Amino acid sequence: MPETATDTQKLIEEEAKRRRTFAIISHPDAGKTTLTEKLLLYGGAIHEAGSIRQRKASRYAASDWMAIEKERGISVTSSVLRFEKDNIKYNLLDTPGHKDFSEDTLRTLVAADTALMVIDVAKGVEEQTEKLFEVCKMREIPIITFVNKCDRPGMEPLEVMSNVENQLGIEPIPASWPLGYGKDFQGIYDLIGKKLYLLRKEKHGAKKAEKEVYDLEEGLEKAVLSQAEKDRFREEVMLTEDLFDSMDPEAYQHGKCTPMFFGSALNNFGLDVFLDYFSKLANPPQPYENEDGSERVITDDFSGFIFKLQANMNPDHRDCAAFVRVTSGKFERGLEVEQADGNGNKKIKMSTPHTLMGDERHILEEAYPGDIVSLFNPGSFRIGTTIFSDHPVRFNVIPLFTPEHFMKVSTKDPFKRKQLREGLKQLAEEGVVHVFEVPKGVGNELLLGTVGALQFDVVKHRMQSEYNCELHMTPVTYNSARWLPEDQEVIDKLEKSYSTHVTKDMEGNPIVLFDSTYALNQAEEKVGSENLYKFKQN
Ligand code: G4P
Repeated sequence: MPETATDTQKLIEEEAKRRRTFAIISHPDAGKTTLTEKLLLYGGAIHEAGSIRQRKASRYAASDWMAIEKERGISVTSSVLRFEKDNIKYNLLDTPGHKDFSEDTLRTLVAADTALMVIDVAKGVEEQTEKLFEVCKMREIPIITFVNKCDRPGMEPLEVMSNVENQLGIEPIPASWPLGYGKDFQGIYDLIGKKLYLLRKEKHGAKKAEKEVYDLEEGLEKAVLSQAEKDRFREEVMLTEDLFDSMDPEAYQHGKCTPMFFGSALNNFGLDVFLDYFSKLANPPQPYENEDGSERVITDDFSGFIFKLQANMNPDHRDCAAFVRVTSGKFERGLEVEQADGNGNKKIKMSTPHTLMGDERHILEEAYPGDIVSLFNPGSFRIGTTIFSDHPVRFNVIPLFTPEHFMKVSTKDPFKRKQLREGLKQLAEEGVVHVFEVPKGVGNELLLGTVGALQFDVVKHRMQSEYNCELHMTPVTYNSARWLPEDQEVIDKLEKSYSTHVTKDMEGNPIVLFDSTYALNQAEEKVGSENLYKFKQN
């Protein structure tokens, strides 16, 4: 039990040092679920694969989650998956899959210290990965790449490298190299440790794969490949084996280059090598920047920010959970915190912190930098709210992400206009949807914008159930949007064009909507892309 402030700081430092908070960025089907499961399998949290897949299949069945929790002794929460291996505590932040793609998915990345990018060897970088990558790029966090499905026909490793470089503008640095491709795939050469792992398949990869470890030449002798293929492999290894050692640590830390591992999550090929290095490459919790540009030292008093709000998880309680990323200090149950965005220095007692598992709540006793705590929202928490125990701080970390889908909205009942505005304002504050005035609009319609199309259903449902307000939605043809600076000159220039429409959100932030990609390109020429923000720091 620490007694002095220095002891507490030491404890915080030690606890922080052994945490790795990361998120997986990938396109649906690339193998995120399978890899997550294998991370748990290799992390020792589960002994047989299957549970996460089960979770994916029954995403909303809380009872299943609970059963998994009990059985496996792991935390499967709606927001973070925790496991521990070799004294390292991993917090894997959930970035929901295809159907659920929303601003939440993007915001989650703001709470991660490292991103793990999973790519399908046959498909390369796909659309959703690109979107998620943009956020990593903005934050300049390290990205570690796992090229999956190497047991299937796909691109050759050098092609994958160019694909990543061309699509994302990030330099891939091979850290492992596959021996044989597709049906000939039979091992992984660890370019860092200079060992060749020949692998034996396990049925569906349910258990850890048996492996044999050799020096390069010894291993090649045992491999079942033609002489020409072996020669080619030697050549590729010669070309690539020094790249990792000469990787610029600064460039890696800022996400300018990415160590790249190859393997097959399904067959457990290449996972040992990958996981060994992952724990070393993934960042421990990093200090976040205060508004004034100073950094909040992680051993300072408790602070954190809210990156996700989730309302009505349990229909019996009309409550809202706030997910907090701990940025400094120690969080303990019962801690009194203040909110940075001015509720009159009122202290709020965090007496019911919990992690959410399905829709059950488990009390969390303490948490350290890098951890995610979920709290009951006292009503005043918003996305991006900073909370702290003693020393005031305000992180301005969560940007506004530009919406990509738009709908005009009105009420079916003309007497419910007030509910419409109030309800939508509330949902906008929670970060569920962006609400805009209809450009040059008349009447009582409003414009909704979301990052994922499914979000409109959420809005419809919540407006009906919480505000008793039935919505009428009409599609509009806007193709894209960009946030704008508060610069009248820029706004005037844009307003002159026929196919661009300037409007404001409910907070008064200006945004421009485009009818076509052509209109967007024209606007870029007119006012410069530096005045058209994909992300806007609010
Ligand atoms: P996601 O979460 O990114 O959407 O992907 P998921 O892990 O669910 O994987 C998508 C599909 O790809 C699954 O097949 C999965 O078994 C398969 N897969 C994942 N990793 C590998 C790999 O290394 N090699 C091969 N060959 N396949 C892989 P499915 O048929 O959609 O599902 P299931 O029937 O296997 O459950």
